[in-house]
Amino acid sequence: NEIYLTGLGGTTPDLPMTADGLEERARETLSAAAFAYIAGSASTERTARGNVDAFASRRIVPRMWRGASAPDARDLSVTVLGTTLAAPVLTAPIGVLGMVHPAAEPAVGSAAAELGIGSVLSTASSTPLEDVAAESGENWWYQLYWPSDDGVAESLVRRATAAGAKVIVVTADTPGIGWRPRDLTLGHLPFLRAEGIANYLSDPVFRSRLASPPEESAEALQIAVLTWVGMFGNHTLRPSDVARVREWTHLPVVVKGILHPDDARAVVDAGADGVVVSNHGGRQVDNSIAALDALEPVAAAVGDHATVLLDSGVRSGADVVVALALGADAVFYGRPWVYGLGLAGREGVVHALRCLLGDLDITMGLAGLSSVTEVDQSILYRS
Ligand code: FNR
Repeated sequence: NEIYLTGLGGTTPDLPMTADGLEERARETLSAAAFAYIAGSASTERTARGNVDAFASRRIVPRMWRGASAPDARDLSVTVLGTTLAAPVLTAPIGVLGMVHPAAEPAVGSAAAELGIGSVLSTASSTPLEDVAAESGENWWYQLYWPSDDGVAESLVRRATAAGAKVIVVTADTPGIGWRPRDLTLGHLPFLRAEGIANYLSDPVFRSRLASPPEESAEALQIAVLTWVGMFGNHTLRPSDVARVREWTHLPVVVKGILHPDDARAVVDAGADGVVVSNHGGRQVDNSIAALDALEPVAAAVGDHATVLLDSGVRSGADVVVALALGADAVFYGRPWVYGLGLAGREGVVHALRCLLGDLDITMGLAGLSSVTEVDQSILYRS
């Protein structure tokens, strides 16, 4: 209504209203390196397209006259792992946001908090996690890229816990960076930049591994970056390692990047509270299964024992409804708000998130759904 009424006066929104529109505008506006970093995926990028196509192939059968259409008839709120959100949406963990916009991670945390949804802060943030925490309200989670140095991993988890994170999200699908031609073409790996390692540069255990403080000279900083690169991938992790995270924190732990039901069962049996069904936005294994196609089997495998989240390909309110119908408790929303950040800083993130939430709210009402808990497979078309 706000937008239509402003439109009556001849004023239209400055930013596009759709995920595709935001991507298009970002392509025209952002630096080539920043756009490549956000948009790029593994190899032929089929998986990234497949994620979106998988949503396009599911159809909602709207129901009429069920008392859901009045705006105040709807309740989108949900409690996930003890976190109560105004809608079943959290911003996905996205690293190195400093190269997208100087407002970076604090802008994302505060935008999500303003709208009552959650945010997940990446290990590879451009801003020390304590500074992001100060802006992110109550409902932020911390994502761990588990380095090969366990002392550093433990320190990061303890810092996030002390700073007020509500859940620890351990990413399983990135023991190394995928083959990403857009970044390779530009000859740059954003993760190698100092902007991507603020959490390490500010970490006492990581600093204890360095011969001299990174602030001392350009050379010392370079050594810190290389030290971090050297410990980025942990190739020894097994499902039983979930128990070690539990020793470092009292928070719920979820494992991100799960696509096979047996892997989901294994981490839940090992003590994880949940999984994030995700193929990292198609950035790791090309030709991998669309995250949405993996959702139903994973949800069936873990049953009621665990929380199931989904990301990779969510682009609209209807996509959120489809994910909930197939077994997700909530979704992580990725690239569209990153384009918003690049285009207009914090306001761009607020805009992108409001568009998703407005679309979700109206779609629910018009489909006859009053609450998130009501969304199940009966709302989907089965041919
Ligand atoms: C990511 N993703 C990611 N995941 C993670 O666990 N830690 C991270 O630091 C990052 N960084 C990151 C940067 C960029 C630019 C992108 C696009 C993605 C993956 C992210 O959390 C999520 O899985 C995907 O973004 C989901 O795909 P869509 O919906 O954004 O296409």
